[in-house]
Amino acid sequence: MSARWKQTATSEELLNRAVQNFKATFNVEPAGVYSAPGRVNLLGEHIDYCGGTVLPFALPQRTFAAMAPRADGQVRAVTAQGDAGAAASGGEVKSVALAEVEPGKLSGWLSYVAGVPWAMEQESLGSLGTLGADIAIDSSVPLGAGLSSSAALECSVAVGFDDLLSATDSSRERLADTDSGRAALATACIRAENEIAGASTGGMDQSISLRAQQGAVLAIDCRDFSVKPLTIDVDSAGLAILVIDTRAHHNLSDGQYAARRASTEVAREALGLSSLRDAFSGTPTLAAAENLLADWDSRVESLNLPDSVDRGVIRDALHHVWTEIARVEECVALFSGGSVSAETWARLGELLNGSHDSLRDQYRVSCPELDLAVDAARVAGALGARMTGGGFGGSAIALVPSNEVEYLAESVAAAFEKADFTQPEFLVATPSGAAG
Ligand code: ADP
Ligand code: GAL
Repeated sequence: MSARWKQTATSEELLNRAVQNFKATFNVEPAGVYSAPGRVNLLGEHIDYCGGTVLPFALPQRTFAAMAPRADGQVRAVTAQGDAGAAASGGEVKSVALAEVEPGKLSGWLSYVAGVPWAMEQESLGSLGTLGADIAIDSSVPLGAGLSSSAALECSVAVGFDDLLSATDSSRERLADTDSGRAALATACIRAENEIAGASTGGMDQSISLRAQQGAVLAIDCRDFSVKPLTIDVDSAGLAILVIDTRAHHNLSDGQYAARRASTEVAREALGLSSLRDAFSGTPTLAAAENLLADWDSRVESLNLPDSVDRGVIRDALHHVWTEIARVEECVALFSGGSVSAETWARLGELLNGSHDSLRDQYRVSCPELDLAVDAARVAGALGARMTGGGFGGSAIALVPSNEVEYLAESVAAAFEKADFTQPEFLVATPSGAAG
């Protein structure tokens, strides 16, 4: 059995391809080419919308947008990819007048593109007036693989509009030049995804795509989206992060993600908190999470929960969210001190395993392909493995000794063959730079 490694285009190839496609489609030169990365989340899943801290890093795989301004308020766009799972939606030029963009109006990939200038205007990040754009998109971020191709698309377009706005108004500072400006652009991209694309996601993906730091994992505190780079140097420890794209495609707008998010909202409201993270009085630990759950159990009858709510589902959701918040805190503490030993890495592996088991058993956002990838990686010697991203398909990650990466991938591939699943695809993830 030989494992399939993802062959992704280099940034130089993508840049050239986007420019060529732009010129062939619009018959002019682009004014600029902008790009933004996909991501892997190391730990902290499904807690960004609960005020938890998440630990993503940017992938080298990026989405490129070649852009030129238009003076008629239209966005015309073409992509080499299209919608995940669609037979062939790439190659076709789609257009919309920005004045007509509003929630519920657009669907498909154009909603991510046109949603961004709409949201930048809503957030008062620039006055578009009659500014529109021609845009040609190309990407090496696999679509629908849980690696945030949608955020990469939004963020590349956001950096592009930021630049075009500053080019037409010399008094306007580019937001992408400062981290606070990038945080503001991330807020706009989150609104584009939530309100125009209709996916109620939490903000981790846009934040990492715009604010990543080369070589680092970013600890993003989702209560206020403050960030702290964390050195988790797998490379110098002789380890690697293997990404396993199960090629079971998820679709975040299909209601399951929103249903999980809604269950955490019900609990938050019943507890009268502004975020589920605020249930912890001190530093979150696994023991403190257990105490919170015991307290929930003793109070659940007296809490104001609608009859229609399944109390077991809510309790399981709380179990996942509170223990995951605690796992992240432990991971941050492990890698914020001075020395990192073999025990530190072994503990990180356990935290990854704990995260997956909780996502599978309590939060129920895994699927057979993800569970098989994780199980096979663990059996083959990974220090730890878990699904990454929203789940219901997409990718898993495994922390593995560098010299066993091939063996691990082949073992997972063999397990997929035996289960008669579509063959997965592999890549080794290294923390890369932000949108630019
Ligand atoms: P993920 O972020 O895990 O890849 P999502 O469902 O959040 O999955 O986003 C995938 C969708 O984003 C695609 O179906 C498509 O609509 C849009 N998209 C992402 N990248 C591109 C691209 N390069 N060209 C066109 N559309 C894209
Ligand atoms: C998706 C979503 C994020 C986050 C993640 C699960 O990637 O876009 O906001 O909630 O799922 O951790």
